Amino acid sequence: MERAVPERLRRWYAQNARTLPWRLPPGSGRGADPYRVWLSEVMLQQTTVAAVIPYFHRFLARWPDVQALAAAPEEAVLAEWAGLGYYARARNLIRCARAVSAAGGRFPEDEAGLLALPGIGAYTAAAIAAIAFDRPAVVVDGNVERVMARLYAEPTPLPAARPALRARAAALTPRRHPGDHAQAVMDLGATLCTPKSPRCPDCPLADLCAARREGAPERYPLRAPRAPKPQRHGIAYLLRRPDGAVLLERRPRNGLLGGMLGLPGTAWQDMRPDPAPPFAADWREAGTVHHVFTHFRLELRVLAAEAGMAAEPDVGSFRQPDRGALPSVMRKALDIGLAGLGAAGPGV
Ligand code: ADE
Repeated sequence: MERAVPERLRRWYAQNARTLPWRLPPGSGRGADPYRVWLSEVMLQQTTVAAVIPYFHRFLARWPDVQALAAAPEEAVLAEWAGLGYYARARNLIRCARAVSAAGGRFPEDEAGLLALPGIGAYTAAAIAAIAFDRPAVVVDGNVERVMARLYAEPTPLPAARPALRARAAALTPRRHPGDHAQAVMDLGATLCTPKSPRCPDCPLADLCAARREGAPERYPLRAPRAPKPQRHGIAYLLRRPDGAVLLERRPRNGLLGGMLGLPGTAWQDMRPDPAPPFAADWREAGTVHHVFTHFRLELRVLAAEAGMAAEPDVGSFRQPDRGALPSVMRKALDIGLAGLGAAGPGV
């Protein structure tokens, strides 16, 4: 296995590597630009390649290198990040860019140096070391875990199986072109060895795969049953002036969606809150947003009202709404609120 697997992956990747804007073609024999690798890996931690590509292009066009990003105002970076989620990562992105820039503008080449930077964890450090600096780092993400779990029909469920799956991945990591190898395993997991319906007939490892021999590779990785996410409830208020500006509030830096703009509203809590609007107006029921965060589900009731030009609520400030600069849950709430004002519902 230790010889056959990397060799088959190398050949498969040479023919089948996805073309990605931060990636060099297979077999380039040199590392990709660490700034691009770092930025893409941080973005890819929370979403798919297809969703990341337009964000990546916009970031590169606006901030072509780490010094440029380090010099950017935090608000501008958060606004470009809007929609990618996990805003603490965007703030760490800026802190990391500033740390690298302050140290001369070059990323450290080894995992330990990379790990010491803000927002860089074990996965990202290994990915940058392997892909940008051709170090034989062991890169383990969800794709890699799935491929290893299937190849060896790993009997322990996740998350307990993690150390065993990492050891499997380590044993298969070659000294030559470890960056290509890491990306080959990830591409295999993303394109063939997919979670629900793996395309085994096209897989270069099919005859070596223990899960395939068992007959149901999609069963792997086994998982310990997960506790359901708690449900939380909140109310958001959309207050619109005649000039189209809406009341927006910047969220506290250190909470969920920290530092992002949003509609004002109640805390998000276990029980449905009573309405407590930030301003006396004719509030109408506009609808309800359902949004799933990492640790809970949110049911966000949206109340909407019109205000005069002279309105001066206690919180936030009136701005022309820029959907693109809002986090997804707030985009949904804005859309529902505006639609509700268009066709007014019953008063509350
Ligand atoms: N997913 C996250 N990082 C990736 C990479 N470098 N190549 C392929 N898929 C990925």
